[in-house]
Amino acid sequence: MKKGLFIVIEGIDGSGKGTQSRLLNTWLKKEKGHSVFLTMEPTEGAIGKLLRDALKHGNVEPKPLALLFAADRIEHNVQIKKKLSEGKNVICDRYMYSSMAYQGAQGVDKKWIGEINKFALVPDVIIYLDVSPDVGLNRISSKGSFRSLQKEEEYLEKKDFLETVRNNYLEQANENSLFFTINADIPLKDVQTALRRVVGRFLKGEGEKNNAELTDFFKN
Ligand code: TMP
Repeated sequence: MKKGLFIVIEGIDGSGKGTQSRLLNTWLKKEKGHSVFLTMEPTEGAIGKLLRDALKHGNVEPKPLALLFAADRIEHNVQIKKKLSEGKNVICDRYMYSSMAYQGAQGVDKKWIGEINKFALVPDVIIYLDVSPDVGLNRISSKGSFRSLQKEEEYLEKKDFLETVRNNYLEQANENSLFFTINADIPLKDVQTALRRVVGRFLKGEGEKNNAELTDFFKN
């Protein structure tokens, strides 16, 4: 049934996922002639909108928040499966690994997060863009939206939180062979080159057998 390649891009805030996903989308379409469905979580659907509102106001407890993300994902899966069956490659900016990292950092039991996400379609490859919280937060603040608007105390709180989120990602990357870690604290175009290299191999059907080799390559 599934025909296209299902690619997930993950990373902490300010890791550059959005930009990298868009660049990958353009490359796949314009240079490789593939059809692509570029998507993200939270989605643009009803539950996704609810989630964005909840994130903005911080008025939903971590456990129900994890359930809402899982519910949004179940709806999203219908759309993703349809696109894959039409032969489209899917690029998804955040997926269940964000729930593990973020809701895990909020204190929700990771095993339980795994349980509520067990019906989610497993991707072909998960690309994790690794940056330190300092780099991520600086990138956000250089867009003029974070540090200038926040008190130093809040900045440090956010930094601490993102440190835990990052550790949760690194833990998943260690345990899950579908993960490729790319150091994203390098120029944008170099991150994109690394990303294309990984995705290019998967498109040729050579991704899995080169997994260990590529992961080692991009860690350096
Ligand atoms: P973004 O649009 O910058 O990627 O932000 C989405 C936010 O949603 C980000 O702070 C991480 C959060 N998030 C979770 O906490 N859990 C999830 O499962 C997902 C998909 C996102």
